[in-house]
Amino acid sequence: MAYRSLVLGAFASSSLAASVVTPRDPVPPGFVAAPYYPAPYGGWVASWEEAYSKAEALVSQMTLAEKTNITSGIGIFMGNTGSAERLGFPRLCLQDSALGVSSADNVTAFPAGITTGATFDKKLIYARGVAIGEEHRGKGTNVYLGPSVGPLGRKPLGGRNWEGFGSDPVLQAKAAALTIKGVQEQGIIATIKHLIGNEQEMYRMYNPFQPGYSANIDDRTLHELYLWPFAESVHVGVGSAMTAYNAVNGSACSQHSYLINGILKDELGFQGFVMSDWLSHISGVDSALAGLDMNMPGDTNIPLFGFSNWHYELSSSVLNGSVPLDRLNDMVTRIVATWYKFGQDKDHPRPNFSSNTRERDGLLYPAALLSPIGQVNWFVNVQADHYLIAREVAQDAITLLKNNGSFLPLATSQSLHVFGTAAQVNPDGPNACMNRACNKGTLGMGWGSGVADYPYLDDPISAIRKRVPGVKFFNTDSFPWFHPTPSPDDIAIVFITSDAGENSFTVEGNNGDRNSAKLAAWHNGDELVRKVAEKYSSVIVVAQTVGPLDLESWVDNPAVKGVLFQHLPGQEAGESLANILFGDVSPSGHLPYSITKRADDFPDSIANLRGFAFGQVQDTFSEGLYIDYRWLNKEKIKPRFAFGHGLSYTSFSFDATIEPVTQLSLVPPPRAPKGPTPVYSTEIPPASEAYWPTGFNRIWRYLYSWLDKSDADSAYAIGIAGVKKYNYPSGYSTVQKPGPAAGGGEGGNPALWDIAFRVPVTVKNTGAKFSGRASVQAYIQYPEGIPYDTPIVQLRDFEKTKVLAPGESETVTVELTRKDLSVWDVELQNWVVPGFDGKRYTVWIGEASDRLFTACYTDTGVCEGGKAPPV
Ligand code: NOJ
Repeated sequence: MAYRSLVLGAFASSSLAASVVTPRDPVPPGFVAAPYYPAPYGGWVASWEEAYSKAEALVSQMTLAEKTNITSGIGIFMGNTGSAERLGFPRLCLQDSALGVSSADNVTAFPAGITTGATFDKKLIYARGVAIGEEHRGKGTNVYLGPSVGPLGRKPLGGRNWEGFGSDPVLQAKAAALTIKGVQEQGIIATIKHLIGNEQEMYRMYNPFQPGYSANIDDRTLHELYLWPFAESVHVGVGSAMTAYNAVNGSACSQHSYLINGILKDELGFQGFVMSDWLSHISGVDSALAGLDMNMPGDTNIPLFGFSNWHYELSSSVLNGSVPLDRLNDMVTRIVATWYKFGQDKDHPRPNFSSNTRERDGLLYPAALLSPIGQVNWFVNVQADHYLIAREVAQDAITLLKNNGSFLPLATSQSLHVFGTAAQVNPDGPNACMNRACNKGTLGMGWGSGVADYPYLDDPISAIRKRVPGVKFFNTDSFPWFHPTPSPDDIAIVFITSDAGENSFTVEGNNGDRNSAKLAAWHNGDELVRKVAEKYSSVIVVAQTVGPLDLESWVDNPAVKGVLFQHLPGQEAGESLANILFGDVSPSGHLPYSITKRADDFPDSIANLRGFAFGQVQDTFSEGLYIDYRWLNKEKIKPRFAFGHGLSYTSFSFDATIEPVTQLSLVPPPRAPKGPTPVYSTEIPPASEAYWPTGFNRIWRYLYSWLDKSDADSAYAIGIAGVKKYNYPSGYSTVQKPGPAAGGGEGGNPALWDIAFRVPVTVKNTGAKFSGRASVQAYIQYPEGIPYDTPIVQLRDFEKTKVLAPGESETVTVELTRKDLSVWDVELQNWVVPGFDGKRYTVWIGEASDRLFTACYTDTGVCEGGKAPPV
């Protein structure tokens, strides 16, 4: 879109007024947000056919006001969308968070996304998804506002990286797809968010004085990194998508025709509905034309005044002809079809909890000044035995970074001294801070909307005490002034933390991103480790952290024998850790990001947040494809601990062969044409379809889709006169497109998922003492001499073995698809296999991005197993 309609739309009293546009701020040359119109209709993919035909039957009976009503939330604090109750279409309850059911009682506080990613375990990731889906269903929600894959984790300081699964597109993609599958199999619609480029929190939002920052992303980087997890999510049929707060290449994501219409709906063939992130809706007509289907929570970006850019405005815009009726029909059909697709028309429970109070009774109209009181909470317990899954995820995510001289595991007979307030639950209670916006006690999750209430928090000190009742606990983050000299046999365990979250809260000077002390541990944790290591000869450091830390001031200290990252363990922080510390289980977590020696081992574009600018802050992704290990490998910078690193108490051998499956061509075979989509009348509906029902009791601050008779009539008069007054964006068209070559199915051309190679990997536990699980990571190296610059190695698949006893083996299989071997060609606008003509790719297999060996290609008899690792 060439123009943004600024916040004028927020206060505009009619959609024609919202056509007042101002030139948007310039972005650096080369970063383009090309117009893409019209919004592609949904319904052309075979697997959605039944849902769409049911939706078509229902939508064709809806009045204009019923249609516009279900495209918007009814206002902040009310949580839900509008309904079409006359036809049995309910208000939909959309609920955070990515790690469970937020703002609700009797739920499980699962480990965060980053922790889940660190398991590198597809079965566990899926099981967590199933459990989250069951809890959402039990609480009566319709839409789970997760998983989060944007931010991708480009900036180590980024505030919300922990909600996603790690700084790699394939790790994010596979984890998101499995989560979506698990959730949606329970009849809950999952939401892939935030589309796209929301890699820092600062300046993320549009407000009346300043636009949100512009993430300037080139086409290839968009496709190969940031879009990859969205494509995989669409491929498994995700039902909804949420746009990001920020802009991309100068256009706000909530009204970005290229991203929503072009990329998501046409290239990726997304069949569900697209919602705005909360209060990021800044235009009426523009966002509708750009492909947005739902405005949440319904208000303009200044809430609680009873204003919306849609609802009554959208009714008016359809009557006056600014928004073609077929766009509204498509918005509504997408929402209704998704509801049918996940069986929510049959016995779907209605919400049985309130996000606004934990009391049984509360305000029935929470945003109104005067409201009747009634029962709002039914205290339905949905936890079942999900603590077991939560604990297994927390445990199998624990990442052993260092274990000098195989110091760990500990014996329960050893003398233990525990330091650090993070060993114990916050004495004020685990939920004492709203949205977990404080860092006090055990850190099980970051802060913001991506949290859940703890039903309890099993803290490390309790679990350690169960095994070692005599453990000494120094509940302090400063080394005690007077501390008796420990004996050489005393072992110190030091707990440190680092927190981050959403920009809506500032915690200890960090306004979302970790912007105060870079990657230092909070509460002088690094100093605590150093001081303890001065006195004790054996120190174990346990970190509860949202992301990488700067470990340099102590990690090489010979007294520091072991370092464990718990990541963000959720409610099961205690037993999961004790099982590892005392050797009941070998650690099997792996780093979902790299830990560098210095923050500026990354380029400025990654290492630093974009600060204040007059006008729009520009966050230019100048490093392109080179984030995390891709950058470090390219620049030959050895990290402290590489992406994928994670030790075990035992050791493994790997033996892999490559089995070719599908012979590839340069580009995927031509896509099939789109299937049929619902057909409705395109006549402007009668104004009476938008009149207020007689005697209707309006509640202040609630948002409605009806109009006063005079307003509806005059809008209709403009509409049928056919006088097009709306200032349509450049490139605007109403003619449906056949869709790009790279499209053709959910996620893109279906041939992108053809398996090119299978790689069975036989893993053997070569240790003598401990059982353990091995992570098998598969990285691709593109052939030499191809006309594309590619990162040296890139993760493409992963598997995890079962628990292998000493001497035991298991064969797991990783797979490489056409897409895994392709690059995005910006000229051809398609995925290209640069080595299809016989050039040799190398498949690297191993436990970490810096500990790899090549798999052998058996059909030619050529085995390159001895080749030196590339990094
Ligand atoms: C804003 C957050 O960015 C988003 O992730 C969340 O789902 C919504 N608020 C709703 O709370």
